[in-house]
Amino acid sequence: MRTHYCGELNAAHLDQEVTLVGWAHRRRDHGGVIFIDLRDREGRVQVVVDPDTAETFANAERVRSEYVLQVVGRVRRRPQGTENADLSTGEIEVLGQQLTIINSAETPPFHLDDDTVSEEHRLRYRYIDLRRPEMLAKIRLRAAVTRELRAFLDSQGFIDIETPILTRATPEGARDYLVPSRTHPGEFFALPQSPQLFKQLLMVAGMDRYYQIVRCFRDEDLRADRQPEFTQLDIETAFLDEDAIMRLSESMIRRLFDKVLGVQLDDPFPRMTYAEAMRRYGSDRPDLRVPLELVDVADLMRAVEFKVFSGPANDPAGRVAALRLPRGGELTRKEIDDYTKFVAIYGARGLAYIKVNERAKGRDGLQSPILKFLPDDVVEAIMQRTAAEDGDLVFFGADRAHVVNEALGALRVKLGEDRGLLQGEWKPLWVVDFPMFERDEEAGRWVSLHHPFTAPKEEHLGLLESDPGACHSRAYDMVLNGTELGGGSMRIYRGEVQRQVFALLGIGEQEAEDKFGFLLNALKYGCPPHGGLAFGLDRLVMLMSGASSIREVMAFPKTQTASCPLTNAPSEVSTAQLAELNIRLRKTPEKAGD
Ligand code: AMO
Ligand code: AMP
Repeated sequence: MRTHYCGELNAAHLDQEVTLVGWAHRRRDHGGVIFIDLRDREGRVQVVVDPDTAETFANAERVRSEYVLQVVGRVRRRPQGTENADLSTGEIEVLGQQLTIINSAETPPFHLDDDTVSEEHRLRYRYIDLRRPEMLAKIRLRAAVTRELRAFLDSQGFIDIETPILTRATPEGARDYLVPSRTHPGEFFALPQSPQLFKQLLMVAGMDRYYQIVRCFRDEDLRADRQPEFTQLDIETAFLDEDAIMRLSESMIRRLFDKVLGVQLDDPFPRMTYAEAMRRYGSDRPDLRVPLELVDVADLMRAVEFKVFSGPANDPAGRVAALRLPRGGELTRKEIDDYTKFVAIYGARGLAYIKVNERAKGRDGLQSPILKFLPDDVVEAIMQRTAAEDGDLVFFGADRAHVVNEALGALRVKLGEDRGLLQGEWKPLWVVDFPMFERDEEAGRWVSLHHPFTAPKEEHLGLLESDPGACHSRAYDMVLNGTELGGGSMRIYRGEVQRQVFALLGIGEQEAEDKFGFLLNALKYGCPPHGGLAFGLDRLVMLMSGASSIREVMAFPKTQTASCPLTNAPSEVSTAQLAELNIRLRKTPEKAGD
């Protein structure tokens, strides 16, 4: 139906007769001449219809926004002074000779140029939203990314293998999506939270190098970088150690950025231990573009009369940390109050601060609601340790360590953004040397920091028994600009270690057998040492495209409440369907959160 895409026309096509198809982006009448911006996937071109061609002109008069048209015409240079430098086709226009309305369109729910449309509305009419060039660009970038990733992995001898979607639960820390079985009344499949166990089985099967671009399903609280179904680039290898796996995946990401964005990332990526990341940045996914760091001051606060500080300073599970903001003295009272509200989201009960007006004047040169609680030597030690200068402001967090880390960690990033402090465009790193377990104090038990199949460091095997909290794993996370892009680990490949870890996690012999018997069995039949990782593809594309949410790089994402305004999923089903599945509903289904 076409000879060219609208957007590919330029001065090289002058005087050619072309046939175009596309959507009427805009129609303007200019004293007897009609201009139609005709749009397709590749861009737009201006079509001019003048009244000499009566039938064509009559058709053009009927055209409205988003009508589907076919235009036959001749490419000509735009009259001087009417060129549009913003359009790739801006030097030329097409003099329309024949115009066919292929299909009409109702007035669209929003105009493509309108950037004030709510996200809900955009998702309801996603097929119109996706017509916007910036959306199309993100979708195409995503395709370019998967193409490059596949090309790299293919070149490295990886085999692309599909794994089941209807399967058993894999514990990645979220709730499962369940699918009732009709043929096995009362039984359910779980949608995979990741293909973790299957990829390990593929290593037992001798596949050596596996990858898959695969949908994963997790019923968890949604955020800008979380969706209930999302895509992983999932990788597993046998006979490579963590160092080799990290080098390989790092070169894949470096090559991807080079090929797709023309960006050269660090070579090699820096590596940082989990402990260092938490200490300096309060986060295991530090945004290294922000040049602010947490500084421990608990040792200075043990004896101060201010209980808010001395309490956590004397508690082994507590932390007292300072965060110096250069030129923070400029902050107004209102801004400080807003930051105090911001850290409260993370559980902080306050946000103490000291403004440094003139350090040379000692106490008199400082301004702070907590100064009266702190002796001179402590104040001086804080100034020295934070290297505070005149005009700075030092924030403080004091609480259980995880609260201080989350609150000051988030504040650090927010200050970096608000105050325009970001340095450098791309700051990748590896975080390594994670603890195997975290203590869930409420439940009084250990939980895996990664997943239960992650191997402990060989030299820490003994700690599994004696001091699980001190046991480190062979896991690694790739972090880019404060986002966890991907993570993985060397896996447990010996049955007795796997059983020991299950036991530590409170998974008894019987439960282990019921849930993971197939894995434990496979470990008996010649399991090679293996490891891998998975990247969040949506997050990767989000960062590469500069989008602020992964919803922007998915064609049909779900809302924050895990629903789809376009199809109205999830939805009720007929009683007949439920009966067939042996499911009976409570009279009034409980709403989430009830
Ligand atoms: P993990 O659970 O860390 O590891 O997931 C790997 C990566 O997937 C992305 N991701 C998500 N992206 C969007 N929405 C979500 N809800 C979501 N959850 C995770 C993140 C994350 O880094 N099987 C292991 C990997 C392995 O050990 O090989 C796993 O799934 O970018
Ligand atoms: P108060 O004595 O409660 O008025 O607190 C004095 C200052 O300490 C205020 O600036 C509070 O914001 C701050 N503050 C209170 N609790 C904490 C805390 N847990 N961590 C950091 N600062 C706090």
